[in-house]
Amino acid sequence: MSSEIETKVGQLLNDSQVGIPVDKSSSTSSHTPKGSSNVLELAKPPHMSETDASNEKLSLELKRRQEELRESESVKAMLSFREKLPAFKVKHEFLKAIALNQVLVVSGETGCGKTTQLPQFILEEEVSSQRGANCNIMCTQPRRISAISVAARISSERGENLGETVGYQIRLEANRSAQTRLLFCTTGVLLRQLVQDPYLRGVSHLLVDEIHERGMNEDFLLIILRDLLPRRPDLRLILMSATINADLFSRYFGNAPTIHIPGLVFPVAELFLEDVLERTRYRIKSESDNIPGNPRGRRRQQQEFKRDPLTELFEDADINTQYKSYSAGTRQSLEAWSGAKLDLGLVEATIEYICRHEGDGAILVFLTGWDDISKLLDKVKANNFLGDSRKFLVLPVHGSMPTINQREIFDRPPPSMRKIVLATNIAESSITIDDVIYVIDCGKAKETSYDALNKLACLLPSWISKASAHQRRGRAGRVQPGLCYRLYPKLIFDAMPQYQLPEILRTPLQELCLHIKSLGQGDISSFLAKALQPPDPLAVQNAIELLKTIGALDDFEELTPLGRHLCTLPLDPNIGKMLLMGSIFQCLNPALTIAAALAYRDPFVLPINRKDEADAAKRSFAGDSCSDHIALLKAFEGWKAAKRNGAERAFCWENFLSMVTLQMMDDMRKQFLDLLSDIGFVDKSHGANAYNKYSDDLEMVCAILCAGLYPNVVQCKRRGKRTALYTKEVGKVDIHPASVNAGVHLFPLPYMVYSEKVKTTSIYIRDSTNISDYALLMFGGSLIPSKSGNGIEMLGGYLHFSASESILDLIRKLRGELDRLLNRK
Ligand code: CDP
Ligand code: MG
Repeated sequence: MSSEIETKVGQLLNDSQVGIPVDKSSSTSSHTPKGSSNVLELAKPPHMSETDASNEKLSLELKRRQEELRESESVKAMLSFREKLPAFKVKHEFLKAIALNQVLVVSGETGCGKTTQLPQFILEEEVSSQRGANCNIMCTQPRRISAISVAARISSERGENLGETVGYQIRLEANRSAQTRLLFCTTGVLLRQLVQDPYLRGVSHLLVDEIHERGMNEDFLLIILRDLLPRRPDLRLILMSATINADLFSRYFGNAPTIHIPGLVFPVAELFLEDVLERTRYRIKSESDNIPGNPRGRRRQQQEFKRDPLTELFEDADINTQYKSYSAGTRQSLEAWSGAKLDLGLVEATIEYICRHEGDGAILVFLTGWDDISKLLDKVKANNFLGDSRKFLVLPVHGSMPTINQREIFDRPPPSMRKIVLATNIAESSITIDDVIYVIDCGKAKETSYDALNKLACLLPSWISKASAHQRRGRAGRVQPGLCYRLYPKLIFDAMPQYQLPEILRTPLQELCLHIKSLGQGDISSFLAKALQPPDPLAVQNAIELLKTIGALDDFEELTPLGRHLCTLPLDPNIGKMLLMGSIFQCLNPALTIAAALAYRDPFVLPINRKDEADAAKRSFAGDSCSDHIALLKAFEGWKAAKRNGAERAFCWENFLSMVTLQMMDDMRKQFLDLLSDIGFVDKSHGANAYNKYSDDLEMVCAILCAGLYPNVVQCKRRGKRTALYTKEVGKVDIHPASVNAGVHLFPLPYMVYSEKVKTTSIYIRDSTNISDYALLMFGGSLIPSKSGNGIEMLGGYLHFSASESILDLIRKLRGELDRLLNRK
């Protein structure tokens, strides 16, 4: 843009101040992480603040600029690409449909152009019809990474910088400006915006993307939108889904019209494990092997392969044994198979096979989570078939990756290089990598499930649905016929459910319930009963009970002032409470660090071959604290010190820490601090020292942990020379093997708080901290006198104390004071 026009547009915008309002610190060109701006302040509707004349002027200017940009060569080139996308064929039908209907459901195979084209069609149409000033399009994405990458893509399709007409806003980070007319945001950001402005007054068009995934936030948003639509007749709602199953959503919105975008994809042949083993181990004996999509030069490759040592790799693989028993055909063996862990050896061997024997083309590998990705990344890099690193570009993609080199994933590598992308199910539908020809599908994804009866959240790799398997296969064959290697037998595929269970039915609901209250949606249970598929009433009850226990809801299920504070922190309510306690009790730094790790991820990495060394490093950070949380706190502090001395790399390497995670935690700490300052719990002008008087006092830090993590408490009971751990809900639990407390026989203190309870082979508590009864007495749930009269029963009735009446009295007073501080307005 010429500087003259830039000034002009800038002036116009300053004059009129329309559009999606921005935080003053954000600018058009810079990437601007912000703290408080995760809650968008919404603009007054344009007609309330603007004169018709200035709106008209701005609309004209936007139109002129759009036309000018269209003349550029790069935009023209982009346009010819865009015109080939299937979405382009429905452009007029789509624009007509939204002109005539309030709600529209659009479905189409991934990659057909829904996310990048449909919002853009609206933008172009509004701008060229001189309605640019009054148009504010928002498009929600379930994941941060897709919000950023799509906004960047559309900006470049329009020939603009990111943050001009098209921008993004995700939790704790934004790139947008006063010119922004199309904003990509995470669904969570939009939900928070609804707190400020329940009518979404600043928004003209809202697109909700990836609804087929049935994420909890999306399902939640749909309930609210269905109620909102009659009150905002001018608002347009467009739901976008990657599966043809649009009817469910259409019915939910009173039989809203649907448009299906027919796909344009090449055939992708499918090999199940039996075929994969056949192909790779024995090779095909005759020449009549007619697997479609078979690459060129096969016969030569087959002969070569007969002599290939790769066969041995497969012989070694665990999965092979399982496969043999599966072939035996007993039902029992199928069950054993279903429970089997993902065999990375098999994945690696398949990658190697493709690299050696198949034609050119990128490989996309679907794995279950970050653990698998990082393990496989190490393996593949160490594997000598990739000896010449210039021949391979191995890239990880994961939903919560803090920084990814966007372009590398989407761009084609130089002709001599093969791109290998290791991804989670994020690559199923949110991002499209065009040059993928081979897909390796392990068949599993990490899925949370919630056991309402035992109040237990489980995060376990489980079999994906047929719909996901179909999506994964479709990621190949975007530019030519592809091949999908499924590393599981056809029998497993046949047994897969058609669709995955919606998230709202398989996650704890406390954060959601808090949100419902903050949006003024009234009674929680009756609100949730309006969902597409309402959650189990017991799960709802558990969430309400937890929120009452931590003091976020009162007896009438209304938000307390503490509950209101917790709503404004985009965090799990327990973690939020830990932050508030950290600021009140002046050990803010530890609270920020621990909260960041809990909200993001553990900075300790687990290398496969050096597990003992890694465990030892973690233990040395923990010292004698019996606390994983202290270990990560000390590790973080060590990293900060090493960074100051320029030794961060060596420090991370020696201590098995992820530098990327630590850096992200550091950024998050800053954001949390801003949030605390926004709600008045921290006054930055007092300086850091004012809130850190007790930061080095580990006993205090452990007490704050108790305050935050309660009611995640287990009792340490001595059984001979060992300690056994008990919880009210599930009885005996074990300490997770990765914890510094694993293998400790006796604990000095009688209780243990933990951040998460997971069910895998047994019920484990992860990240635990040994705490005193006084911490619990002070910060646990409400105090209830016991029947015997001289003790106290903590909430749940299983934590029993003996204390004199005078001590109890004192504690009651202290608690009253603390309550007052937490609930200050
Ligand atoms: O949303 P949907 O899956 O229907 O497709 P999309 O995300 O709009 O992508 C349409 C096409 O744009 C893809 O097939 C890619 O060719 C291209 N694209 C890209 O090159 N880079 C991006 N960051 C996103 C999309
Ligand atoms: Mg999309």
